[in-house]
This record gives sequence, C-alpha cells and structure tokens, in this order.
Amino acid sequence: MTGSIAAYKAAELVGLLVRMPCEVHVIMTRSAQQFITPLTFQCLSRNPVLLSSFSETSEWKPAHIELADRADLLLIAPASANILAELAHGMASHPLTEIALACRAPLLIAPAMNGKMWSHPATQHNTAILKERGAEFIGPDSGMLACGYEGAGRLCDPQVIAARVSERLGNRGIVPESA
Ligand SMILES: Cc1cc2nc3c(=O)[nH]c(=O)nc-3n(C[C@H](O)[C@H](O)[C@H](O)COP(=O)(O)O)c2cc1C
Repeated sequence: MTGSIAAYKAAELVGLLVRMPCEVHVIMTRSAQQFITPLTFQCLSRNPVLLSSFSETSEWKPAHIELADRADLLLIAPASANILAELAHGMASHPLTEIALACRAPLLIAPAMNGKMWSHPATQHNTAILKERGAEFIGPDSGMLACGYEGAGRLCDPQVIAARVSERLGNRGIVPESA
C-alpha cells in the first residue's frame, strides 16, 4: 500500500482478504506509514509487514525476492500517483517497487488520488503504460473526494477490490456476504 488518504480502507480490505482465506503479506511505503501504522496491518494480516529491504532477517533470501517468488497475485491498494509513475518507469527504490519488478504474478492496481492528479496526462500516460504491460486496474471510482473535490479518484470499495482478487485467483477465495 502507498501514501493515500484512503489508506484506512486498506485495513478493511486486508480483513476481507484474510477471511477469504488468502495469505496476505503487506508492504507499506514510507508515505503509507504516515497515514496508518504497520502494527495495524501486522495484526490484521497475521504476518510481519515489509517496510524496508535492509532489515535483518534470519532468512538468506531477501524478503522482497522471497515474497515476489511466492506471490499468486500482487495488489497495490491504495495506489498513489507516485507509485504509478515509479512502476511505469521500472524504478526499484523501495520494497514495493522491487517486488513489482521481481514478481511475475498478475498485478492489480486500485488507484486513489485527487481527481486532477488522476486526470493529469502524466498519470494517464503511466496508467496506459501499465495496462499495456498487463496490469489490471480496479477503479478509481467517482464521487466526493477527501480533498473536497468531486470526480474520479476514489479508491474502490474494499468489497469490490476483494471480489476482483477472488476472481483473479479463480474464485479460490469467496468474499463472505456479511464481511
Ligand atoms: C493528507 C495527504 C493525503 C494524500 N493523499 C494522496 C492520495 O490519495 N493519492 C496520492 O496519489 N497521493 C496522495 N498524497 C501524496 C502522497 O502521499 C505523496 O505523493 C507520496 O510521495 C506518495 O508516496 P508513495 O507512492 O511512496 O506512497 C497525499 C498527501 C497528503 C499529505
């Protein structure tokens, strides 16, 4: 997950994914940690949260390669304008972008941002590049945005994102109605 005001919705999303059941490993950018704590995601995902590529571990394989190799699916939600630019240009400056480059599993991206950031030609161009490479976009939705504007840029409902993940995993995980 990345640095967006919609980060709090990722907590509900992780809960839904875990109950599917999916094994969920959360990777947070530095900006994401300004919005919500890693501890929340550690508890909800029942796994350590990856924050840095340089943490000491008992494993010989770097955590970002281990996760990239094991993943059935990589979901970025919420996805900032910045991460779209980084992914489009193949950057690898933190664990999330490193995993995105090393991972061959399907990539699902749920953007969330101000409407003008979303409609900016740079963001639209980056989105087109990522779609061309096979990334699947979930939203964004339109409506009232946290920044006070109305338009496209809202993170899709966590239920909708979880349903797309389930679909992409061959309906292996079924989203509970009451979740
Ligand atoms: C209060 C606040 C809310 C923000 N919300 C968003 C957002 O919804 N989408 C977005 O793309 N950037 C948003 N930003 C800006 C990003 O956090 C910033 O571009 C950051 O560098 C993104 O880094 P990351 O992609 O590494 O997480 C917000 C910034 C602040 C201060």
